[in-house]
Amino acid sequence: MSTLFDSIKIGRLNCPNRIWMAPLTRGRGARDHVPTDLMATYYAQRASAGLIITEATGITVEGSGWPYAGGLWGTEHVRQWKKVTDAVHQADGRIFVQLWHMGRIVHPSLHGVQPVSASATTAPGSAHTYEGKQPYVEARALAIEEIPRLIGDYVAAARNAIEAGFDGVQLHAANGYLIDQFLRDGSNHRRDAYGGSVENRIRLLREVVEALVDTVGAERTAVRLSPNGDSQGVDDSNQAVLFPAAAATLDPLGLAFLELREPGPNGTFGKSDRPAVAPLIRKVFKGALVLNSDYDLARGQAALAEGAADAITFGRKFLANPDLPYRFAHGIALNTDNQKTWYSQGAEGYTTYPAASA
Ligand SMILES: Cc1cc2nc3c(=O)[nH]c(=O)nc-3n(C[C@H](O)[C@H](O)[C@H](O)COP(=O)(O)O)c2cc1C
Repeated sequence: MSTLFDSIKIGRLNCPNRIWMAPLTRGRGARDHVPTDLMATYYAQRASAGLIITEATGITVEGSGWPYAGGLWGTEHVRQWKKVTDAVHQADGRIFVQLWHMGRIVHPSLHGVQPVSASATTAPGSAHTYEGKQPYVEARALAIEEIPRLIGDYVAAARNAIEAGFDGVQLHAANGYLIDQFLRDGSNHRRDAYGGSVENRIRLLREVVEALVDTVGAERTAVRLSPNGDSQGVDDSNQAVLFPAAAATLDPLGLAFLELREPGPNGTFGKSDRPAVAPLIRKVFKGALVLNSDYDLARGQAALAEGAADAITFGRKFLANPDLPYRFAHGIALNTDNQKTWYSQGAEGYTTYPAASA
């Protein structure tokens, strides 16, 4: 029986614990999405995580719609991310980068590009932009001829990730962004090979993951899914069929891990009344399974003890506690996160949370 304090081997990486840092957008990059030196300090502070998964990081201008989020398409991006990975490795840590195409969530005011998606749909609500919140605009459906180019964009970003010194990449296929927009039938109304049947809607996910595996190796490729319920207006009429089928498709590829974000009915960052799909996925996905959302030490230990998960990612707890594994191990009270500084610029509420450990 494993505990959160046991090591786990992920591909070639030896992770010293199963208390991992969930991907967290923090908006501390430059306006051109180049990472800042402050980001190296922030991630190095959290190097005691069994594994850090970075904030979602744009693969292209087309896919980037979050103010001051990191990007990974240019030489400057690579050069600055290298400072981050060096700082984490010097602090004895391990770090995967989360590869992000936001699809219809991109607002054209950021880069003057109309958003793309599976179909011509509009996300509900409004986007974070440099000019404050603005209503989303209708996306353009990607033409089937554009799919190879899109896959090429993921591959180029993955190559850059390795050049920048990351230990691996996580495809962001969750939370209502581009891959999720293709997966679920609420946002995918296509009639070609990428729409309609479950198999067709999984096709883009599969093709992107296969291309990433070919580029960086299966042991350095991971995926994040968010199966249970609506994310940013993206939902499926039969999640208990779609997501186990997606996981079964990924299983033979031998990935580093699969992470699931599934909020419960009392979730404090998203909620869902629908049951978690994780138990169904556990049956068909034999690789390392990592669970997320509203976990604390006790729930995390219980999930590992039941054999429901191999590791847990902690989001807001890692945001506010750079030394979370140490605090868990020694029963030290946790700092609470300040929502006002989640996405603000500068060091305040970013690198200023105190560590209890020496
Ligand atoms: C400030 C903030 C930023 C987030 N950014 C991302 C992100 O970039 N990519 C992602 O997949 N999830 C993101 N999430 C979701 C978290 O990874 C995680 O699923 C959520 O915080 C629930 O886990 P927790 O209860 O441990 O905090 C974000 C959440 C927060 C609070």
